Amino acid sequence: MSHDKQVALVTGGNRGIGNELVKQLALNDFKVILASRDPEMGHEAAQQLKELDLDVSYIEMDVTNQVSIQQAAITINKKFGRLDVLINNAGVYLDENEKLLAMEPFVLEKTMATNFLGVYYCVRSFIPLMEKHGYGRIINVSSEYGAISEVSNPGVGAYKLSKFALNGLTRLIAAEIDGDIKINAVDPGWVSTDMGGPSAPRTPKQAAESILWLATIGPEGPSGGFFRDGKPISW
Ligand SMILES: NC(=O)c1ccc[n+]([C@@H]2O[C@H](COP(=O)([O-])OP(=O)(O)OC[C@H]3O[C@@H](n4cnc5c(N)ncnc54)[C@H](OP(=O)(O)O)[C@@H]3O)[C@@H](O)[C@H]2O)c1
Repeated sequence: MSHDKQVALVTGGNRGIGNELVKQLALNDFKVILASRDPEMGHEAAQQLKELDLDVSYIEMDVTNQVSIQQAAITINKKFGRLDVLINNAGVYLDENEKLLAMEPFVLEKTMATNFLGVYYCVRSFIPLMEKHGYGRIINVSSEYGAISEVSNPGVGAYKLSKFALNGLTRLIAAEIDGDIKINAVDPGWVSTDMGGPSAPRTPKQAAESILWLATIGPEGPSGGFFRDGKPISW
């Protein structure tokens, strides 16, 4: 690896945990690309961080749109020539209180498209940039709802299944990739964002801090794991 600044990409970087991840990575000397599906919100979020003298740029990316992801990968390859860290953070929580079989199927479809397939397409499109240099760290922002114990209880079916599948994807890709490219899943805890709501005990800053160690693990570090606060949690 060269000694140039490492390049990191965060999906859903315009607000919530993703926005804090962008900020923390930039404070830790990464060149950070803030991805957002909404150009206005994305530009504004990146601008706010640039005003703090942080090395942040914006890219448009909707994780449910394969063309948008591929276009972002081409742009990043042209502009930066590398990608060292990918954080798949973008996610939705669309469940109301219905049981899985009672809910409108589009709730499951849209949740899977964003939280599971979106990550699959991002990894697929960005791994070639990592393979170019034989190095990469991928972090999938999952949830304790994705644990098998949670899937054994009723409710929140679309979200749970999307994160359960995401955990499986993390493990499978870890088994399939070669070289010093690592992929792990994390549970950020219950966090006060638009998704987590105001009663959540954790701040986005605390959540980001609990995740970012996986961006800098060495070649001996874990791959295919599922962690909360640096500790493995049960699947
Ligand atoms: N908050 C919690 O308590 C909690 C707990 C466990 C896990 N998580 C996970 O942590 C991650 C971040 O959650 P958060 O609490 O920060 O949520 P949030 O405040 O609702 O933010 C979600 C982010 O994802 C983006 N997003 C949604 N669909 C997208 C798409 N199709 N393409 C690109 N971006 C998209 C949103 O963009 P827009 O602004 O355009 O909508 C937004 O930037 C999620 O994966 C979530 O499942 C959160």
